[in-house]
Amino acid sequence: MLNELWTRRRLAVEDELRRQLELTPSINSTLTEAMQYSLLSGGKRLRPILLMAAADAVGSTGEKFLTTAAAIEMIHTYSLIHDDLPAMDDDDYRRGKLTNHKVFGEAIAILAGDSLLTLAFEVMLRQKDVADSARIAVVNEMSRAAGMSGMVGGQAIDLQSEGKAIDLGTLRRMHLGKTGALFRAAIRSGAILAGASPQQLSALTAYAESFGLAFQITDDILDVTGDEKTLGKPIGSDARNQKSTYVTLTSLDSARSLAKQTVEEALVALKNFGTEADFLRELVRYLNTRES
Ligand code: IPE
Ligand code: IPE
Ligand code: MG
Ligand code: MG
Ligand code: MG
Repeated sequence: MLNELWTRRRLAVEDELRRQLELTPSINSTLTEAMQYSLLSGGKRLRPILLMAAADAVGSTGEKFLTTAAAIEMIHTYSLIHDDLPAMDDDDYRRGKLTNHKVFGEAIAILAGDSLLTLAFEVMLRQKDVADSARIAVVNEMSRAAGMSGMVGGQAIDLQSEGKAIDLGTLRRMHLGKTGALFRAAIRSGAILAGASPQQLSALTAYAESFGLAFQITDDILDVTGDEKTLGKPIGSDARNQKSTYVTLTSLDSARSLAKQTVEEALVALKNFGTEADFLRELVRYLNTRES
């Protein structure tokens, strides 16, 4: 189920990304090309997949919310373009290709990120067949998650922690911010659009937080043990930048066992759901074995 459904939905998300770009007037072809370069260059599309799986889990059908799913992928892609910039992680490869600034220069890469972030909010508002109240709730989730209380805030902690031994509480807050916040917004948005009850929403939020934490712990492990070709991005980036990660602050073995434990916590959060949540279960189990 995992691979087949994931592939089908990934292709649908990619069609929707293209469609949404085409619907948007372009006044500068270089900027549009830079946006397309990163947006349509592969990637697991995990946040859109989770958004749709959360809608399934509360008895709806993920495909109804493809537009919002595409929107969160735009926010994620923007975060990657900026994360790779010389002033941040200074990386040359992403998704198996040169990073955006290596191809288009730093200034256009910054602008491509800016315009993907803003386009995401325009696209979210294009979601069809939902009540305005749900659309507003989703914009609230996404803006909170993308900004100072979420991804950007976490990235600031990440940069300030370079070359320092931070405590594990700070590390956890950093992970929940820089990576967890977008996963949380993806899952909560899918649930909200599908009409989740307050109990379902809070269980899915607990799942999402564990998912995000486990995901970033495995990202930190793969930065040490991964294969560059399979990952599509350089390994050793964290060591070069003297980043604080679970691997550097504890050990590879401790990071692995914490990731496993966190995956179990995510599964426990789904205990009151039936088979509709099986895809969410498979997606979090995949974190124990992922190689890219
Ligand atoms: C990479 O995210 C950035 C992190 C939050 C660790 P993904 O591993 O989901 O990257 P893509 O979208 O598949 O390239
Ligand atoms: C970045 O974390 C999270 C983002 C907000 C993009 P990393 O810096 O570890 O992500 P990678 O390893 O470059 O994908
Ligand atoms: Mg980074
Ligand atoms: Mg990075
Ligand atoms: Mg990393």
